[in-house]
Amino acid sequence: MRALQVSNRNSYRGELVDAAEPLPRAGQVLVRVRYSSLNYKDALAITGRGRIVRKLPLIAGIDLAGEVLDAGTAPFSRGAQVLATGCGLGEEHDGGYCEVATVAAAHVIPLPRDLTLREAMILGTAGFTAALCLEQMERNAQTPELGDIVVTGASGGVGSIAVAIFSQRGYRVLAVSDKRDRHTWLQQLGAEKIFTTSQLLEHSSAPLTSVRWGGGVDNLGGTYLTALLKATALHGNVACVGLAASATLNSTVFPHILRGVNLLGISSNNCPHSQRGRLWQRLATELKPRQLDMLGGKEITLADLPAAAEQMLARKTSKRILVRVTK
Ligand SMILES: NC(=O)c1ccc[n+]([C@@H]2O[C@H](COP(=O)([O-])OP(=O)(O)OC[C@H]3O[C@@H](n4cnc5c(N)ncnc54)[C@H](OP(=O)(O)O)[C@@H]3O)[C@@H](O)[C@H]2O)c1
Repeated sequence: MRALQVSNRNSYRGELVDAAEPLPRAGQVLVRVRYSSLNYKDALAITGRGRIVRKLPLIAGIDLAGEVLDAGTAPFSRGAQVLATGCGLGEEHDGGYCEVATVAAAHVIPLPRDLTLREAMILGTAGFTAALCLEQMERNAQTPELGDIVVTGASGGVGSIAVAIFSQRGYRVLAVSDKRDRHTWLQQLGAEKIFTTSQLLEHSSAPLTSVRWGGGVDNLGGTYLTALLKATALHGNVACVGLAASATLNSTVFPHILRGVNLLGISSNNCPHSQRGRLWQRLATELKPRQLDMLGGKEITLADLPAAAEQMLARKTSKRILVRVTK
């Protein structure tokens, strides 16, 4: 079968190889992969620019959706449609960039009735993470009345789906993106206001600034996350998702001790199985973005992945990138 494998033979970069089809081992499910997707983490893994892959050689790809070929003793019938995201796929275990994947039965989610395999991968880890942010923030008493929700990295996967989901849920969304050609699209997804990153950083030099929003979803890290925290309303929540700009956080305690602002860590990879299954159900129903088709961008093949990964890290992509693995 064809697979996109990361190995030290190619300077820790992903390359297309002919690999032997895997045999199922105890506790594993064999899946014919139809779709996968390209996430920022995949791009770091494929280009060798992030320490994502923990053992070599490894098939990359943190997302997959397809049909069960062999479930062993797991309660899935042959041909059942399933998906898997995160859970160490493409990091600790072989992932979804291959025609036949082995997935630990405990990590397999039955495809919700109201989603197709393609839709599940338009959402993928990005959509799952956006929904996890919403759920964690609302558990922590976030409401539309607290003020706007700022979404940074809004033209990307997590960001664009967060814009759609939060606005559908009744929040006013302030989307942050430097891609001016994406601004109309972000408005169509539900953004009420759009800022560039420079506008986000305006008036943010003091340790605590006047309140400008009710909370946020941050995909960038660094000064952007700091700026979000400084201007968040009393008891608002900021979900810390990504490091697309920086892995550092240089802040003060003031937003937290003077305004009770909560910094929520989001780790989609480690989300417990019960919450994972429930969130996918929500994503297939009440949280399913009305504009799902507008969220999906390019559809590529396994062979296109190395070039697409370079483009993603160079900030030349937007929307979700779907990978058509087998027809
Ligand atoms: N914690 C978790 O569970 C979790 C799950 C999924 C993803 N993530 C992380 O979340 C981040 C977003 O992932 P993704 O898959 O949505 O990536 P993506 O599709 O590439 O989106 C990232 C967006 O961030 C912006 N951006 C990138 N580099 C930037 C920079 N240097 N300065 C300012 N803006 C920049 C770009 O938007 P503009 O060009 O429009 O400004 C880009 O569209 C990544 O860091 C990823 O690792 C974390």
